[in-house]
Formats: sequence, C-alpha cells, structure tokens
Amino acid sequence: MAEQWRCAGHAGDLSEDSPIEYKIEGGAEVGIYRVGDELYALENVCPHAYALLTQGFVDGDMVECPLHEAVFHIPTGKCLKEPGGRDLKTYAVRLAGEEIQIKVE
Ligand code: FES
Repeated sequence: MAEQWRCAGHAGDLSEDSPIEYKIEGGAEVGIYRVGDELYALENVCPHAYALLTQGFVDGDMVECPLHEAVFHIPTGKCLKEPGGRDLKTYAVRLAGEEIQIKVE
C-alpha cells in the first residue's frame, strides 16, 4: 500500500507543553508531541477508558492521562504506569518546512 503523508498541523502550534490533536480522516485520533527537537505521534484515546491524552499533563518525555493518571512514554508509546492497560500505537511523523505530517496507512 502506498504510504500517505497528511498535514496534521503547523510546527508553530506545537510546543513541549501543549501537544496537538489530529483526527485521521475516518479513523483514529492522534496526539502529536514535541520532546526537545523531536516530534512523536501517538494514539490519543487512552486505552483504559475514554480520555484524550493530549489533554493530560506532559512531563518531559511522558504524558499522564487526565482521567485516572496512567502514564505513557511519548517516544515509544509504552505504558509506564497503570491503569493504561497496554502500550499506545505510534505513528510516523515528520516536518516538511513548517508543516507537521503524519503517515497514514
Ligand atoms: S482513562 Fe486514562 S487512565 Fe483511565
């Protein structure tokens, strides 16, 4: 299947403290984070119940769910603290000029 990169926002809207939300057309919600100079994109709905992780608390390379405080590792999606239940799906993300792009399948 051909890979497709979709515009998911603009670099100027993304800071370490405030990730951005992006919904893939007809599909998943994704959270996009900046940690240092790197961008990461993760599944945005907490696997435990329904909460958007981008509305949680970002601490360095970790994000805490706003509802029951599960913690996930932003670069890998790994669940570091329950009750997350499982690791998060990750997405390829890149910068093209000022445009943030997400790879969708
Ligand atoms: S919804 Fe995220 S920890 Fe419960």
